[in-house]
Amino acid sequence: MKRIFFNEVATRDGFQIEPAFIPTDTKVALVNALSTCGYAKIEVTSFTSPKAIPMLRDAEEVMGRIRRLPGVEYTVLVPNQRGAERAMEARADEFNLVMSTSETHNLANLRMPMARSFAALSDIIRSVDGRTPINVSLSCSFGCPMEGPVSQDDVLAWVGRFADLGVRGVTICDTTGMAHPAQVSRMVEALQQRFDPLQLTLHFHNTRGMGLANLLAAVQGGIIRFDGSLGGLGGCPYAPGASGNISSEDAIHMLDAMGYDTGIDISRLLAVARQLPDIVGHDVPGQVAKAGRITDLHAPPGSSQT
Ligand code: COA
Ligand code: ZN
Repeated sequence: MKRIFFNEVATRDGFQIEPAFIPTDTKVALVNALSTCGYAKIEVTSFTSPKAIPMLRDAEEVMGRIRRLPGVEYTVLVPNQRGAERAMEARADEFNLVMSTSETHNLANLRMPMARSFAALSDIIRSVDGRTPINVSLSCSFGCPMEGPVSQDDVLAWVGRFADLGVRGVTICDTTGMAHPAQVSRMVEALQQRFDPLQLTLHFHNTRGMGLANLLAAVQGGIIRFDGSLGGLGGCPYAPGASGNISSEDAIHMLDAMGYDTGIDISRLLAVARQLPDIVGHDVPGQVAKAGRITDLHAPPGSSQT
């Protein structure tokens, strides 16, 4: 059975676009519950400017209070040097650096041109000097809602620059759900040919209903690491039209049904997912938490249940 590794991003990508502040206690309890489900990694929060992402202004407190389970990596999003210092102080297991492959999105999201982001992230990588593993998330790698297509060669060039700096992994992000399965197949084939020892992760949003099809294309192309967000929450506040990530539980349920080993206790995960509408105060897109697993049987219509 092929092993697939999931990184749960609900408390970072999922929460950052939510309008109503989610209390720190609730965030800590959710991370603790997710920790027991079998994830390889959890992206707990981000060390961004509290003015830019007010929802995650309690990043230090959340990182300080979660119960860390052995075998789970607790990663955080880091946009700049100040974020890296805060992440170091918080003893994050991994720094997930971020920049966009679209100049317009980088300016909107990080308020600097790509060249300045790259210089800043390079300085962080050099200053960390291997003490903490580094992943780099490349936003808008399959297209930008403001610029349109992003060339695969440009994405590969960015991956190459970070690989040359010795990062452990790179995440290819479809920030606003513009990827389609044929494009994903081409991208993952090219990535694996050129960057074999690098940990490659794919990050999909379901903005246009192609999320699980894209995940499947990537799995069939040999990718074993994915980001997902509980309930299908998520989106970048600085990418027009952004909406939820692929739902972790829907993706994990599908892969499990197909015979992949996700390492996740799905019953436990669904129980956590069913708490989410109360946590965020609205319905969430995830489907399996509502429908039940394909192995959950129902009584025939009209039968009396005692
Ligand atoms: N953590 C906390 N505060 C930070 C910070 C960080 N990582 N980076 C900057 N700041 C603060 C500065 O201290 C300064 O505060 P002040 O106004 O009280 O003096 C203020 O933010 C502006 O600093 P500056 O260096 O000019 O940053 P900026 O305004 O150009 O913002 C980012 C740059 C990257 C920090 C900001 O755009 C950001 O956090 N973006 C969020 C990106 C994100 O998470 N998007 C969604 C996920 S992809
Ligand atoms: Zn995302």
